[in-house]
Amino acid sequence: MMLLGVERLRTLILTCSLLEYVGHRVASEEIQSFWQHCFLTATLSERLARGIGYPQPEQAYLAGLLHDIGALPLLLSNSSEPIQAESAAFEGWRESLALERERFGTDHCEVGRWLGISWNFSPALLEVMVCHHNPREAIHDPYLVGIVAAADQFCVVRGVVQGVGPPEPCGSAIHPNEQILRACLPSISPEEAGKLGEMLETDFLHLIQLMDFGAAGVFGGGIPKNPFREFEART
Ligand SMILES: [Fe+2]
Ligand SMILES: [Fe+2]
Repeated sequence: MMLLGVERLRTLILTCSLLEYVGHRVASEEIQSFWQHCFLTATLSERLARGIGYPQPEQAYLAGLLHDIGALPLLLSNSSEPIQAESAAFEGWRESLALERERFGTDHCEVGRWLGISWNFSPALLEVMVCHHNPREAIHDPYLVGIVAAADQFCVVRGVVQGVGPPEPCGSAIHPNEQILRACLPSISPEEAGKLGEMLETDFLHLIQLMDFGAAGVFGGGIPKNPFREFEART
């Protein structure tokens, strides 16, 4: 408790309670997929934080773990009110903020903000919930938001998906790893972005093996549109 600090401990307890509540009401595959995405985003956020010299890498881990917490109430709502045949267009709501808003009248960033406010999250953590899909809107701690946004997008383009995907690749000769890092953390140099991208890629591959994501796991449905593969095919 002394190592974690009261605020982090309280945040984790609240998160575990919400997860347990939702876990009994939502299909286990959905919760597993949610948690895998959050765990990988958290671990890569911490690595990236250390890589760029961010002073609180543990905070980056926590922010990565919680960035999509607003999706849990939406998953719960989705399982209690399944999509009807006439609303089949909503099936892909997890991949688009716009569809999410159409389906629920709100999105997971906004729900994350409500949760964060009611749980008394720090302003920086709250900002991660709200801005991780638009890191340039961050004011309190743009580095923290940029770190989590980059780790999140890195997982999404690798197929570990929970929620909204990254923007379409712009077709430039810049490697997608580097594109993500430079878009989320504009102050880092292209050389640094290249090195950090390689580091994240190596870590990601190690983590995937460690977590034993088999063919029937997160990749069961096939890796979705993957800019890395497109890039590799072009070069
Ligand atoms: Fe998200
Ligand atoms: Fe995410």
